[in-house]
Amino acid sequence: MGDGRVAVVTGASSGIGEATARELTARGWRCVLLARRADRLEAIATDIGAEWETCDVSDRAQVDDVAARILARYPSIALLVNNAGIPARGSFLDIDPERIERVTDVNYLGGVWCLRAFEPGLRAAAAAGGAHVVNLVSVAGTVAFAPAGAYSASKHAQLAFSRSAAALLRSTGIQVHAVLPGFVETEGFPQRTKLRSRLLRRWVIEADDVAKAIVKAVEKGKGEVTVPWFPYRLTSVAQAVVPGVFARLAGRAGYHRGE
Ligand SMILES: NC(=O)c1ccc[n+]([C@@H]2O[C@H](COP(=O)([O-])OP(=O)(O)OC[C@H]3O[C@@H](n4cnc5c(N)ncnc54)[C@H](OP(=O)(O)O)[C@@H]3O)[C@@H](O)[C@H]2O)c1
Repeated sequence: MGDGRVAVVTGASSGIGEATARELTARGWRCVLLARRADRLEAIATDIGAEWETCDVSDRAQVDDVAARILARYPSIALLVNNAGIPARGSFLDIDPERIERVTDVNYLGGVWCLRAFEPGLRAAAAAGGAHVVNLVSVAGTVAFAPAGAYSASKHAQLAFSRSAAALLRSTGIQVHAVLPGFVETEGFPQRTKLRSRLLRRWVIEADDVAKAIVKAVEKGKGEVTVPWFPYRLTSVAQAVVPGVFARLAGRAGYHRGE
Protein backbone atom coordinates (compact mmCIF):
# COMPACT_ATOMS: atom_id res chain seq x y z
CA MET A 1 0.00 0.00 0.00
CA GLY A 2 1.11 3.55 -0.75
CA ASP A 3 0.61 5.06 2.73
CA GLY A 4 0.62 8.55 1.22
CA ARG A 5 3.99 8.07 -0.47
CA VAL A 6 4.48 10.04 -3.68
CA ALA A 7 4.35 8.42 -7.13
CA VAL A 8 5.12 10.28 -10.38
CA VAL A 9 3.38 8.72 -13.38
CA THR A 10 4.29 9.87 -16.89
CA GLY A 11 1.82 9.55 -19.75
CA ALA A 12 -1.01 9.64 -17.21
CA SER A 13 -3.54 11.46 -19.43
CA SER A 14 -4.86 8.23 -20.98
CA GLY A 15 -4.51 4.46 -21.32
CA ILE A 16 -2.13 2.51 -19.09
CA GLY A 17 -0.80 5.63 -17.33
CA GLU A 18 -4.28 6.82 -16.37
CA ALA A 19 -5.27 3.31 -15.22
CA THR A 20 -2.06 3.07 -13.18
CA ALA A 21 -2.64 6.45 -11.52
CA ARG A 22 -6.18 5.36 -10.61
CA GLU A 23 -4.95 2.00 -9.22
CA LEU A 24 -2.13 3.60 -7.23
CA THR A 25 -4.42 6.27 -5.78
CA ALA A 26 -6.91 3.60 -4.73
CA ARG A 27 -4.05 1.88 -2.90
CA GLY A 28 -3.06 4.98 -0.96
CA TRP A 29 -0.36 6.56 -3.13
CA ARG A 30 -0.21 10.34 -3.65
CA CYS A 31 0.10 10.64 -7.44
CA VAL A 32 1.59 13.40 -9.57
CA LEU A 33 0.48 13.00 -13.19
CA LEU A 34 2.62 14.10 -16.14
CA ALA A 35 1.74 14.34 -19.85
CA ARG A 36 1.22 17.10 -22.46
CA ARG A 37 -2.60 17.51 -22.53
CA ALA A 38 -3.52 19.78 -19.61
CA ASP A 39 -7.29 19.37 -19.98
CA ARG A 40 -7.09 15.59 -19.72
CA LEU A 41 -4.66 15.70 -16.80
CA GLU A 42 -6.79 18.19 -14.90
CA ALA A 43 -9.96 16.12 -15.33
CA ILE A 44 -8.29 12.89 -14.16
CA ALA A 45 -6.44 14.58 -11.29
CA THR A 46 -9.64 16.23 -10.07
CA ASP A 47 -11.47 12.91 -10.26
CA ILE A 48 -8.93 10.94 -8.22
CA GLY A 49 -7.49 13.70 -6.01
CA ALA A 50 -4.03 13.82 -7.61
CA GLU A 51 -1.69 16.60 -8.75
CA TRP A 52 -0.59 17.21 -12.32
CA GLU A 53 2.02 19.04 -14.39
CA THR A 54 2.36 19.29 -18.14
CA CYS A 55 5.63 17.97 -19.54
CA ASP A 56 6.95 16.59 -22.82
CA VAL A 57 9.27 13.85 -21.58
CA SER A 58 11.37 14.00 -24.74
CA ASP A 59 12.36 17.59 -23.88
CA ARG A 60 15.19 17.38 -21.32
CA ALA A 61 14.80 21.00 -20.16
CA GLN A 62 11.06 20.53 -19.55
CA VAL A 63 11.72 17.33 -17.59
CA ASP A 64 14.37 19.04 -15.44
CA ASP A 65 12.04 22.01 -14.77
CA VAL A 66 9.05 19.91 -13.83
CA ALA A 67 11.15 17.61 -11.64
CA ALA A 68 12.60 20.64 -9.82
CA ARG A 69 9.06 21.92 -9.12
CA ILE A 70 7.83 18.52 -7.90
CA LEU A 71 10.95 17.87 -5.79
CA ALA A 72 10.51 21.29 -4.15
CA ARG A 73 7.06 20.12 -2.99
CA TYR A 74 8.00 16.47 -2.39
CA PRO A 75 11.72 15.85 -1.72
CA SER A 76 11.01 12.12 -1.48
CA ILE A 77 9.64 10.25 -4.53
CA ALA A 78 8.98 6.59 -3.74
CA LEU A 79 7.82 5.59 -7.24
CA LEU A 80 8.51 6.80 -10.77
CA VAL A 81 6.46 5.15 -13.53
CA ASN A 82 8.08 5.81 -16.91
CA ASN A 83 5.02 5.09 -19.03
CA ALA A 84 4.75 7.92 -21.61
CA GLY A 85 5.04 6.45 -25.08
CA ILE A 86 3.86 6.68 -28.66
CA PRO A 87 3.33 4.13 -31.44
CA ALA A 88 5.18 3.94 -34.76
CA ARG A 89 3.22 1.55 -36.94
CA GLY A 90 4.90 0.73 -40.24
CA SER A 91 8.27 -0.54 -41.34
CA PHE A 92 11.62 1.24 -41.12
CA LEU A 93 11.30 1.96 -44.84
CA ASP A 94 7.67 3.19 -44.85
CA ILE A 95 7.31 5.64 -42.00
CA ASP A 96 8.48 9.25 -41.91
CA PRO A 97 12.05 9.67 -40.68
CA GLU A 98 10.73 12.24 -38.17
CA ARG A 99 8.57 9.49 -36.62
CA ILE A 100 11.64 7.28 -36.18
CA GLU A 101 13.40 10.11 -34.33
CA ARG A 102 10.30 10.96 -32.28
CA VAL A 103 9.59 7.40 -31.12
CA THR A 104 13.21 7.08 -29.98
CA ASP A 105 13.09 10.44 -28.18
CA VAL A 106 9.83 9.71 -26.34
CA ASN A 107 9.85 5.95 -25.69
CA TYR A 108 13.51 5.50 -24.88
CA LEU A 109 15.14 8.82 -23.98
CA GLY A 110 12.07 10.17 -22.16
CA GLY A 111 12.53 7.57 -19.43
CA VAL A 112 16.26 8.25 -19.23
CA TRP A 113 15.67 12.00 -18.68
CA CYS A 114 13.00 11.30 -16.04
CA LEU A 115 15.21 8.88 -14.10
CA ARG A 116 18.08 11.38 -14.09
CA ALA A 117 15.85 14.29 -13.07
CA PHE A 118 14.00 12.43 -10.27
CA GLU A 119 17.07 10.58 -8.95
CA PRO A 120 17.50 12.87 -5.88
CA GLY A 121 13.90 12.22 -4.84
CA LEU A 122 14.24 8.48 -5.43
CA ARG A 123 17.45 8.38 -3.38
CA ALA A 124 15.73 10.24 -0.53
CA ALA A 125 12.87 7.72 -0.58
CA ALA A 126 15.31 4.81 -0.77
CA ALA A 127 17.12 6.10 2.32
CA ALA A 128 13.77 6.27 4.11
CA GLY A 129 12.72 2.71 3.28
CA GLY A 130 12.69 2.06 -0.46
CA ALA A 131 12.04 3.47 -3.90
CA HIS A 132 10.92 2.01 -7.21
CA VAL A 133 11.16 2.86 -10.90
CA VAL A 134 8.82 1.08 -13.29
CA ASN A 135 9.64 1.23 -16.99
CA LEU A 136 6.67 0.46 -19.24
CA VAL A 137 8.44 -1.43 -21.96
CA SER A 138 6.59 -3.90 -24.22
CA VAL A 139 6.90 -7.42 -25.54
CA ALA A 140 8.12 -5.47 -28.60
CA GLY A 141 11.24 -4.82 -26.49
CA THR A 142 12.15 -8.50 -26.74
CA VAL A 143 10.90 -9.42 -30.20
CA ALA A 144 11.69 -7.72 -33.50
CA PHE A 145 8.15 -6.95 -34.65
CA ALA A 146 8.83 -5.93 -38.26
CA PRO A 147 5.43 -4.21 -38.89
CA ALA A 148 6.42 -1.65 -36.23
CA GLY A 149 10.19 -1.78 -36.58
CA ALA A 150 11.11 1.64 -35.18
CA TYR A 151 8.73 1.17 -32.23
CA SER A 152 10.26 -2.23 -31.54
CA ALA A 153 13.78 -0.77 -31.67
CA SER A 154 12.80 2.03 -29.26
CA LYS A 155 11.46 -0.58 -26.84
CA HIS A 156 14.61 -2.74 -27.16
CA ALA A 157 16.62 0.36 -26.22
CA GLN A 158 14.26 1.10 -23.34
CA LEU A 159 14.61 -2.47 -22.01
CA ALA A 160 18.40 -2.23 -22.16
CA PHE A 161 18.17 1.08 -20.30
CA SER A 162 15.89 -0.50 -17.70
CA ARG A 163 18.12 -3.52 -17.15
CA SER A 164 21.23 -1.33 -16.92
CA ALA A 165 19.53 0.98 -14.43
CA ALA A 166 18.38 -2.01 -12.36
CA ALA A 167 21.95 -3.28 -12.09
CA LEU A 168 23.36 0.21 -11.45
CA LEU A 169 20.91 1.11 -8.68
CA ARG A 170 20.55 -2.31 -7.00
CA SER A 171 22.79 -1.35 -4.07
CA THR A 172 21.09 2.03 -3.48
CA GLY A 173 17.67 0.70 -2.45
CA ILE A 174 16.07 1.91 -5.70
CA GLN A 175 14.48 -1.11 -7.40
CA VAL A 176 13.98 -0.85 -11.15
CA HIS A 177 11.21 -2.94 -12.71
CA ALA A 178 10.43 -3.57 -16.37
CA VAL A 179 6.81 -4.33 -17.24
CA LEU A 180 6.34 -5.81 -20.71
CA PRO A 181 2.71 -5.85 -21.89
CA GLY A 182 1.55 -7.54 -25.04
CA PHE A 183 -1.15 -5.81 -27.12
CA VAL A 184 -3.30 -3.47 -25.01
CA GLU A 185 -6.38 -1.59 -26.25
CA THR A 186 -5.77 2.15 -25.64
CA GLU A 187 -6.27 5.49 -27.35
CA GLY A 188 -2.83 5.62 -28.95
CA PHE A 189 -2.78 1.87 -29.66
CA PRO A 190 -6.27 0.87 -30.90
CA GLN A 191 -5.13 -2.71 -31.42
CA ARG A 192 -8.54 -4.29 -32.02
CA THR A 193 -9.10 -2.15 -35.11
CA LYS A 194 -5.49 -1.85 -36.31
CA LEU A 195 -4.18 -5.43 -36.09
CA ARG A 196 -4.83 -7.52 -39.22
CA SER A 197 -4.39 -10.93 -37.56
CA ARG A 198 -7.50 -12.32 -35.89
CA LEU A 199 -5.27 -14.46 -33.65
CA LEU A 200 -3.31 -11.42 -32.41
CA ARG A 201 -6.58 -9.52 -31.84
CA ARG A 202 -7.72 -12.33 -29.51
CA TRP A 203 -4.73 -11.65 -27.26
CA VAL A 204 -5.47 -7.94 -26.75
CA ILE A 205 -5.85 -7.01 -23.05
CA GLU A 206 -7.07 -3.88 -21.20
CA ALA A 207 -5.15 -1.02 -19.57
CA ASP A 208 -6.50 -2.02 -16.14
CA ASP A 209 -4.83 -5.45 -16.46
CA VAL A 210 -1.47 -3.74 -16.96
CA ALA A 211 -2.06 -1.26 -14.11
CA LYS A 212 -2.66 -4.17 -11.72
CA ALA A 213 0.52 -5.89 -12.97
CA ILE A 214 2.52 -2.70 -12.34
CA VAL A 215 1.31 -2.42 -8.76
CA LYS A 216 1.99 -6.14 -8.19
CA ALA A 217 5.52 -5.82 -9.60
CA VAL A 218 6.24 -3.02 -7.11
CA GLU A 219 4.59 -4.71 -4.13
CA LYS A 220 6.18 -8.12 -4.78
CA GLY A 221 9.56 -6.75 -5.93
CA LYS A 222 9.42 -8.43 -9.36
CA GLY A 223 12.22 -7.27 -11.66
CA GLU A 224 10.74 -8.10 -15.05
CA VAL A 225 7.13 -9.00 -15.80
CA THR A 226 5.40 -9.99 -19.04
CA VAL A 227 1.65 -9.23 -19.11
CA PRO A 228 0.01 -11.63 -19.66
CA TRP A 229 2.62 -14.35 -19.33
CA PHE A 230 0.89 -16.52 -21.97
CA PRO A 231 1.38 -16.34 -24.90
CA TYR A 232 3.75 -13.40 -24.89
CA ARG A 233 6.61 -14.88 -22.84
CA LEU A 234 6.76 -17.70 -25.35
CA THR A 235 7.21 -15.22 -28.21
CA SER A 236 10.15 -13.66 -26.36
CA VAL A 237 11.72 -17.10 -25.94
CA ALA A 238 11.04 -17.98 -29.61
CA GLN A 239 12.78 -14.77 -30.72
CA ALA A 240 15.84 -15.67 -28.66
CA VAL A 241 16.00 -19.39 -29.46
CA VAL A 242 14.67 -19.66 -33.05
CA PRO A 243 15.00 -16.16 -34.54
CA GLY A 244 14.64 -17.38 -38.13
CA VAL A 245 11.25 -19.00 -37.45
CA PHE A 246 10.14 -15.93 -35.52
CA ALA A 247 11.16 -13.59 -38.35
CA ARG A 248 9.04 -15.58 -40.83
CA LEU A 249 5.97 -15.38 -38.55
CA ALA A 250 6.46 -11.69 -37.66
CA GLY A 251 6.91 -10.83 -41.34
CA ARG A 252 3.38 -12.12 -42.02
CA ALA A 253 1.72 -10.07 -39.25
CA GLY A 254 0.84 -6.43 -39.74
CA TYR A 255 -1.54 -3.51 -39.36
CA HIS A 256 -4.38 -2.17 -41.45
CA ARG A 257 -3.32 0.85 -43.49
CA GLY A 258 -3.06 4.32 -41.87
CA GLU A 259 -1.18 5.67 -38.85
N1 LIG B 1 -1.16 -0.30 -25.90
C1 LIG B 1 -0.28 -1.27 -26.17
O1 LIG B 1 -0.54 -2.21 -26.95
C2 LIG B 1 1.04 -1.26 -25.46
C3 LIG B 1 1.74 -2.47 -25.37
C4 LIG B 1 2.97 -2.49 -24.73
C5 LIG B 1 3.49 -1.33 -24.20
N2 LIG B 1 2.79 -0.16 -24.32
C6 LIG B 1 3.41 1.04 -23.76
O2 LIG B 1 2.59 1.56 -22.74
C7 LIG B 1 2.81 2.95 -22.60
C8 LIG B 1 1.47 3.69 -22.54
O3 LIG B 1 0.80 3.56 -23.78
P1 LIG B 1 -0.79 3.42 -23.89
O4 LIG B 1 -1.05 2.16 -24.61
O5 LIG B 1 -1.43 3.65 -22.58
O6 LIG B 1 -1.11 4.60 -24.91
P2 LIG B 1 -1.92 5.97 -24.77
O7 LIG B 1 -3.28 5.72 -24.22
O8 LIG B 1 -1.80 6.62 -26.08
O9 LIG B 1 -1.09 6.76 -23.68
C9 LIG B 1 0.15 7.33 -23.96
C10 LIG B 1 0.42 8.39 -22.91
O10 LIG B 1 1.70 8.94 -23.14
C11 LIG B 1 1.60 10.36 -23.17
N3 LIG B 1 2.63 10.93 -24.01
C12 LIG B 1 2.85 10.71 -25.33
N4 LIG B 1 3.91 11.41 -25.75
C13 LIG B 1 4.37 12.10 -24.66
C14 LIG B 1 5.43 13.00 -24.45
N5 LIG B 1 6.25 13.37 -25.44
N6 LIG B 1 5.59 13.50 -23.20
C15 LIG B 1 4.77 13.16 -22.19
N7 LIG B 1 3.75 12.31 -22.33
C16 LIG B 1 3.55 11.79 -23.56
C17 LIG B 1 0.19 10.64 -23.67
O11 LIG B 1 -0.30 11.88 -23.19
P3 LIG B 1 -0.26 13.29 -23.95
O12 LIG B 1 -0.64 13.03 -25.38
O13 LIG B 1 -1.26 14.09 -23.19
O14 LIG B 1 1.14 13.78 -23.79
C18 LIG B 1 -0.59 9.53 -22.97
O15 LIG B 1 -0.92 9.92 -21.67
C19 LIG B 1 3.70 3.35 -23.79
O16 LIG B 1 5.04 3.46 -23.36
C20 LIG B 1 3.54 2.20 -24.74
O17 LIG B 1 4.65 2.05 -25.59
C21 LIG B 1 1.58 -0.10 -24.93
